[in-house]
Amino acid sequence: MTLSRTGFPGTGTLAAGMLLVAGLGFGTAGVAADINNGGRLYSLHCAGCHGATGVPTMVGAPDFKRSQVLMRPDAQLALSLKRGRGAMPAYLGIMNERELLDVVAYLRTLS
Ligand code: HEC
Repeated sequence: MTLSRTGFPGTGTLAAGMLLVAGLGFGTAGVAADINNGGRLYSLHCAGCHGATGVPTMVGAPDFKRSQVLMRPDAQLALSLKRGRGAMPAYLGIMNERELLDVVAYLRTLS
């Protein structure tokens, strides 16, 4: 692997490869949401009111399959979750930013 020789003189290919993998890991953290994790969090925190498939089981909760509530940027939806809304509890301190964005990404798979 020529990259390791030119880019990291004196280090072996394995060390260079590990640096490369670590670098890629940092590069994608915070950018790509984890939908699987979002789904897990949704079942845990949200499905009780919003239903397993996004069709609400609670009066007054929006239907994610039909409503316009998801037609907003991820950050705005995450903020709404942090603050809570109406009968919905606030998730500030319960989920971190990363987890909120994972859940929002999962919501988008329900519509
Ligand atoms: C206790 C029941 C309940 C739980 C639990 C709950 N919600 Fe809600 N959710 C509601 C209700 C009711 C509304 C409508 C609030 C309103 O507009 O008055 C709502 C609204 C929303 C909205 C629209 C917010 C907006 O700004 O218009 C989103 C998005 C949402 N919920 C996602 C979630 C997610 C994701 C979770 C889990 C982390 C969750 N909810 C947990 C009841 C709940």
